[in-house]
Amino acid sequence: MTTAALTLGCLLFVVASASAQYFELRNVNQLADAKKAQKIVIRDLHVPAGVTLDLSNLREGTTVEFIGRVTFGYKEWSGPLVKISGKRLNIMAYDYARLDGEGHRWWKGGRHPNFLKPRFFEATVDDSTIRNLYFKNPPVSCFVCNWCHNTEISRMTVDTKDAGDGRAGRAFNTDGIGLGFVKNVTVLNSYVFNQDDCFVTGGGEDMLVDNLTCEGGNGISVGSLGNGADVVRLTIRNSRVINSLTGLNIKTELHAIGLHRDVTFENIELRDIHQYGISIHGNEGPTFPSGEPSFFILDRLTMRNIRGNMVGTGGANVWIWLHPNSAQNWRWENVNVVGGKSAMFRPPLQCKGVPPHLGIRCAEK
Ligand SMILES: *[C@@H]1O[C@H](CO)[C@@H](O)[C@H](O)[C@H]1NC(C)=O
Ligand SMILES: *[C@@H]1O[C@H](CO)[C@@H](O)[C@H](O)[C@H]1NC(C)=O
Repeated sequence: MTTAALTLGCLLFVVASASAQYFELRNVNQLADAKKAQKIVIRDLHVPAGVTLDLSNLREGTTVEFIGRVTFGYKEWSGPLVKISGKRLNIMAYDYARLDGEGHRWWKGGRHPNFLKPRFFEATVDDSTIRNLYFKNPPVSCFVCNWCHNTEISRMTVDTKDAGDGRAGRAFNTDGIGLGFVKNVTVLNSYVFNQDDCFVTGGGEDMLVDNLTCEGGNGISVGSLGNGADVVRLTIRNSRVINSLTGLNIKTELHAIGLHRDVTFENIELRDIHQYGISIHGNEGPTFPSGEPSFFILDRLTMRNIRGNMVGTGGANVWIWLHPNSAQNWRWENVNVVGGKSAMFRPPLQCKGVPPHLGIRCAEK
């Protein structure tokens, strides 16, 4: 037994020393060498304009640590500023480390479609952890994990406070944390202050969001769904949405194809919501908010222990605008969003496809 343990010990030593243990990246020109290391430390790095900090195809098991401030040169392009991919990665930042997009340089472009802004951070990882990243002032959408599997994302911060109050703010389309086509991904203990969706998922399976705080933006969104994207087994719990346009938003596109099954919102606080406390609609698209909702199955949706208030009487506590056959097997328990009398809508807000017998009070006057 002793001999076996000793042999194994030597073997591990040999394997470990075959590659550099540690590489401190000071310049993007060193990326190829850095990617050979077991651990990449990124300290006070400036990434030149129009260049992606390309951490894709990292060796299995690589650790990436951010220390200090990472900044990016200015260019009108679509990015991303950072991309990262691999298996069994351990991606983390020290407290006080900042990925600083200095987004105000692009926010001046407003919503103009021809004004390109770089997406910030795109991860495609398996069996990995992503922890403690602090994004300051993203130019446009901030963090996405697309095609991620078995991954835990925790203690993330998205901070566009410099753009001012969310609804009056200038930081258009700064979606906070996004998941797309993932399987078994959790998002824990995170904070987003931004000016678009706080959390958004397109398709995916087995997703859990726990202890997320959203402020200033457009709330928590499922969808826009379309293009065959299914959302199956998503739970969002123990979270809060504060001073935002919408609280909870489930949206499917006009003529969308796909499915939505076993989505649960549980123990959510909505505080000072401006337009829709809970909005579930099937007519997302260029003609929104008008347009007939398209048929799209929303099966086994659960809303449980949702409480909140609207700012003033203009907003709607709950709005549902669905094809009559869309809602199936819903549970609606202890949902108590108050204050809205739907006074801001012209023409007056109507509801459609509300499942009966659940006591849902849609678009109260
Ligand atoms: C889901 O991902 C976690 C890591 O976040 C992992 O520990 C767990 O084994 C995964 N579950 C399955 C069924 O693969
Ligand atoms: C919830 O997340 C926040 C960060 O937004 C963190 O400070 C807090 O400790 C978390 N709460 C729990 C119970 O983990």
